Amino acid sequence: MLKVDIDGITLEAQPDELLIDLINRTGRSVPHVCYHPQLGPVQTCDTCMVEVNGHLARACATAAADGMKVSAKSSKAAAAQVEAFDRILSNHMLYCTVCDNNNGNCTVHNTTKLLAIEHQRIPFRTKPYEVDNTNPFYRYDPDQCILCGRCVEACQNVEVNETLSINWEDPNPRVLWDGGSTIGESSCVSCGHCVTVCPCNALMEKTMLGHAGFLTSLKKSALSGMIEVVKGVEPETGYGSILQVSEAEHAMREHRIRKTKTVCTYCGVGCSFDVWTKDRHILKVAPEHGPANGISTCVKGKFGWGHINSEDRLTTPLIREGDKFRAASWAEALGLVARRLSEIKNKDGADSLAFISSSKCTNEESYLLQKLARAIIGTNNVDNCSRYCQSPATVGLFRTVGYGGDSGSISDMEKADLVIIVGSNTAESHPVIATRVKSSHKLDGQKLIVSDLRENEMARRADLFLHPRPGTDLIWLSAVSRYLLDNRLAHTRFLDQWVNGLDEYRRSLEPFTLEAAERLTGLSVRSIRTVAHMIAEAKNTCILWAMGVTQQSQGSDTSTAISNLLLITGNYMRPGTGAYPLRGHNNVQGASDHGSMPNMLPGYQSVDDPEVRRRFETGWNVKLPSTKGLDNHEMVEAIHEGKLKAMYLIGEEMSIVDSNSNYVAAAFEKLDFFVVQDIFFSNTCRYADIVLPGAPSLEKEGTFTSTERRVQRLYEVLEPLAGCQPDWKIIRDVANKLGADWNYQHPSEIMVEIASLTPMFAGVSYERLSGYKSLQWPVTADGTDEPLLYTKRFAFPDGKARLFPVSWIGSSDQPNAEFDLHLNNGRLLEHFHEGNLTYRTEGIRQKTPDTFVEVSPELAEERGLQSGTWVQLISRYGKVRVRALVTDRVQGKELYMPMNSVESPVNRLTSSHTDPVTNTPAYKETSVHMKVLAEVGESPLPRINSRFGRPTPQNGVEVERKWKRADYAQPGNGNGLVQLQTNK
Ligand code: SF4
Ligand code: SF4
Ligand code: SF4
Ligand code: FES
Repeated sequence: MLKVDIDGITLEAQPDELLIDLINRTGRSVPHVCYHPQLGPVQTCDTCMVEVNGHLARACATAAADGMKVSAKSSKAAAAQVEAFDRILSNHMLYCTVCDNNNGNCTVHNTTKLLAIEHQRIPFRTKPYEVDNTNPFYRYDPDQCILCGRCVEACQNVEVNETLSINWEDPNPRVLWDGGSTIGESSCVSCGHCVTVCPCNALMEKTMLGHAGFLTSLKKSALSGMIEVVKGVEPETGYGSILQVSEAEHAMREHRIRKTKTVCTYCGVGCSFDVWTKDRHILKVAPEHGPANGISTCVKGKFGWGHINSEDRLTTPLIREGDKFRAASWAEALGLVARRLSEIKNKDGADSLAFISSSKCTNEESYLLQKLARAIIGTNNVDNCSRYCQSPATVGLFRTVGYGGDSGSISDMEKADLVIIVGSNTAESHPVIATRVKSSHKLDGQKLIVSDLRENEMARRADLFLHPRPGTDLIWLSAVSRYLLDNRLAHTRFLDQWVNGLDEYRRSLEPFTLEAAERLTGLSVRSIRTVAHMIAEAKNTCILWAMGVTQQSQGSDTSTAISNLLLITGNYMRPGTGAYPLRGHNNVQGASDHGSMPNMLPGYQSVDDPEVRRRFETGWNVKLPSTKGLDNHEMVEAIHEGKLKAMYLIGEEMSIVDSNSNYVAAAFEKLDFFVVQDIFFSNTCRYADIVLPGAPSLEKEGTFTSTERRVQRLYEVLEPLAGCQPDWKIIRDVANKLGADWNYQHPSEIMVEIASLTPMFAGVSYERLSGYKSLQWPVTADGTDEPLLYTKRFAFPDGKARLFPVSWIGSSDQPNAEFDLHLNNGRLLEHFHEGNLTYRTEGIRQKTPDTFVEVSPELAEERGLQSGTWVQLISRYGKVRVRALVTDRVQGKELYMPMNSVESPVNRLTSSHTDPVTNTPAYKETSVHMKVLAEVGESPLPRINSRFGRPTPQNGVEVERKWKRADYAQPGNGNGLVQLQTNK
């Protein structure tokens, strides 16, 4: 620790601690406008001036040093602070009482008060620019912009979308999108970082405008009149009394604006944030304290909440009558569910029923659903959609290192010297994780290798982009392993100490020579060798992968090959290393963790382990079935075979998102009884006998587990819409109708039960998860968690990892003369999955209104089509009609279709072939014929989609350009400002 004297008091500082952080941490204050701890020093505002050893310096850009004498209050420092802030006020009109940002957290307001500013020396000056309203979610008001550059820093170096800059050389600087475009036509991805960090009202969520304040919904003309009145009294009264009025108005807001913490309902990154609401109106999403995301979000988490108050939410149970549904009471609906499930169980046995949990539901809800299946019905026929994406990765990790989850945290991905991304469109599927990799790559010299069929954003940024033939990742990964072992580049010490099975593994690599890999993958020997050397040279390597790997007929083996490669190079057990299968849905990890799997009780405890069963039987006071149940894929087969008669499905759009969806829908038609629990009347509901209205994430409490095994609490932001019920209550009530005696009154009671039966969650409790606290499993009874796994041993009895040999078989569906094109599929940034939630946000619909098929420029030319041409794609399993989008993201005869469509779902084309180990469908192995139709429409992606923008990369806000302006002078009369430490 260092000793620093601040205004006569000696404080202990950490090495490298910024003075501003030291001052804030110890409860003192110094004004600061542009500084934000998650952005670091931006150095544009100069309001944080302090005296350091007699010279003026910026507290936000000066590191503490032993023996340093600092004064934040000396007359020299105070004069400089006021002078700097006066310049800021010349860019901003203080009309706080009628401002939607008057919520107690406006930095400009608070600094005016802190510095006791009564009058401005430099008068406010408007800027010659219009307000920009062209983005559906937020607007920019140049007149209120203080040019602090926080937004630029966030966009350039945190989000790394590189849209924003400030034209410092212009007589009237402002924030620019793509160097001068409208926001709507820029590369802005509407992630909201800039809006979140803006310290005033220059950038604001449109949902706040006219809604947050008591007077702010007044007509513009009336507002302007009031602003004039305020300005008119200022010369006489000063700002003090004006601020008092605005503070009274803010105090009134406190009574009607609620701020509630929740966890994002979309992807597996696990972003958490406060949701500001006024009655049922969502004012804004405010990210700041989330352990996974801090200030970061993507468009879905920040703005994609239109589904919550959508007019077509289900608000009453529906019972089928012939071809129609009629509204029913909860009593009637629950009675019918219980009666029909009992009848079918009595007639055809417990195993003629099946249950599918939702990866959008909470851990507690998944736990209850599998308990209902096992303890009340008596079947292990329970599964969740991790079968469709994550199970192969889980198997790969179970085989090699012992736990089926990410081996570390997002912070490890940030720290790595080398990140390898295989089959993951990370920037669109896991946007906030992508920001961390992009930032480390841009600013900290991290190296990036991407293997993908498409040249997506991460591929464009990569130091090395590999484009192997479809489904051949296992080959080049194994060839890299062999090359490393053959050339003594493997980590021998690590292998000797921590890994079993080297000899057998080495033998299994025999076929994977560089030459064979080149022949089979299409990658050059040179590039495979380069990968090997980059791994060997990097101190720490992380490998991230997703559905491009797992949704292949060898998804489990390729995942295993990834982990094998990490093991031979010693890339486990240390920060900045490890295996990261990126989980898709927000709680797909938790759904499996909590036992919605046909072979595992909660915490991956096997159903055929008598010891485990005994524990659950005692806890639940029942006898449990001991044989593995059916997984999702087998359930569909069993319905077709007439063995499965009834299904209870929660929150999954199976008739659209299951592979070979025509076949799946045909199965649903054969069910004797089908319960669907959802928040909308989904396509799958059309096959139901009864539909139960559940509640979305904002309307319930519980926990979600993100990709980094992070368990986080969500709180009830809004009461459930009248007529709906949180899903845990519905499951509880169904169980009780079936004769159970479940008394859960709150999800915390369910978690107590989970912790008591599941060693992996022994120390998880709602108290330990309160607010923004989180735990990364496994969690011992005393609450110790493991952000980084395997720091002491691998999760096998002898503590050693296991190399697991794999061989290459080939893909299930190869192009031929008739089906001559390879069709790949996956997510899009703006929509989640089929889009049932995201299409209900108008702005998202505007930016991305429909699905499409990406066609390479060379194929488009060959087939005579352009963006907007309608085509019919025909596979061996079905056909869809869709518009083409010509793009160089894809090459040659490879097509790509995003999955955001209910009308033309890509899964009408995909097959029922699966990875034999997990039964995960080989979604990515589809061959199609493309018939070009005569019709040509608009391009399926409008000009306002961010893809068409032109980013302007630079290193942050580039404050040095401001300092070079002729009208810039250092505050404090230019009195020897010492640049003790600059930004980067
Ligand atoms: S991408 Fe758009 S919303 Fe995100 S920080 Fe940049 S300008 Fe703001
Ligand atoms: S728009 Fe950007 S530069 Fe202007 S005040 Fe907001 S964060 Fe600062
Ligand atoms: S969708 Fe994913 S990245 Fe986007 S805000 Fe939600 S959790 Fe974060
Ligand atoms: S806080 Fe703005 S320069 Fe330090």
